Amino acid sequence: MEITKSSENKIDKLVSCLPQENICGRPFVQYNGTWFPLLAIPGVISSQELFQADESEIIIAGLPKCGTTWLKALIFSIVNRNRYQPTESPLLSIHPQILVPSIEMDHFRDGLPQTIYQLSRPTISSTHVPYAFLPNSIITSNSRVVYVCRNPPDALVSYWHFRNSIMKHNNTSVQVEPIEEFFDQYCRGVQPYGPLWENILGYWNASVEKPESVLFMTYEDLKEDSMFQLKRLASFLGFPFSSEEEAQGLIQEISTLCSIGNLKNLEANQKVVHYSVVPGTSYFRKGEVGDYVNHLTPSMIETLNKLVEEKFAGSGLVF
Ligand code: A3P
Repeated sequence: MEITKSSENKIDKLVSCLPQENICGRPFVQYNGTWFPLLAIPGVISSQELFQADESEIIIAGLPKCGTTWLKALIFSIVNRNRYQPTESPLLSIHPQILVPSIEMDHFRDGLPQTIYQLSRPTISSTHVPYAFLPNSIITSNSRVVYVCRNPPDALVSYWHFRNSIMKHNNTSVQVEPIEEFFDQYCRGVQPYGPLWENILGYWNASVEKPESVLFMTYEDLKEDSMFQLKRLASFLGFPFSSEEEAQGLIQEISTLCSIGNLKNLEANQKVVHYSVVPGTSYFRKGEVGDYVNHLTPSMIETLNKLVEEKFAGSGLVF
């Protein structure tokens, strides 16, 4: 498919017929069952056919606020470790969100293919779309997909804070709805790139069917045992750590370089404004497991737990 004025018009026409809701002050449309930011729709549609993944392509997938920035930093560091020592890493001067571009937002900004130069070899790209929406070339090539999942209440709270920090930074008159309203939408499946159960289960099932192509990770496991998870990740990507590297402390060095404490305080990450509206610091907040208890009432937590239990019943996935 070549992007022409007429295909742009077709996308505009399609979008105008889709159900629309504002989520945390931002317009979303429901396309084939998934809630996409209005702004991302042209990129999602164009990339499905046009994104060309090569054999060694690495894709980082995950719902927003599930740890994708962390994964970007970790995977960049693992696969490029023979080119850049942790002390000379491009991560020290480039925000992970810029170092690793998004398929729907960067490779196909506004639906138009962009020329993007990547420092990483092999190249790494990210996406929030469900597995069923992945560009054809990712499925048919030997690309490796790493999916990061996070417990739903923490992801919910994190997204709400993220939107608030963007609004605050831009002094906008549009306010983020109270967390109670966002919670109600969330429980209806009206979430960025959600319903979350569909997004998560799509990748979970793919990881069970094709473990050599899709690795399923969780934010909580990464927090609990970073060393083990980094080794698991490196082996899956085809860049296993040698015993010498392990003995030299390289895994620990990468873990420290990519830690929230380090990334958050880097001048480059504090100064940059992603897409001209998202302050670089808003990608780094607390980075804790279980912060939701400070923001959701016990009854909200119970409702969400029940919903999650019901949606993931029989899948083998436990939160
Ligand atoms: P919190 O808001 O709970 O702190 P994403 O990168 O997918 O947008 O997710 C953002 C969440 O991951 C935020 O969670 C953020 O603080 C956390 N995060 C970002 N970088 C991290 C890192 N290096 N280590 C651990 N957590 C990180």
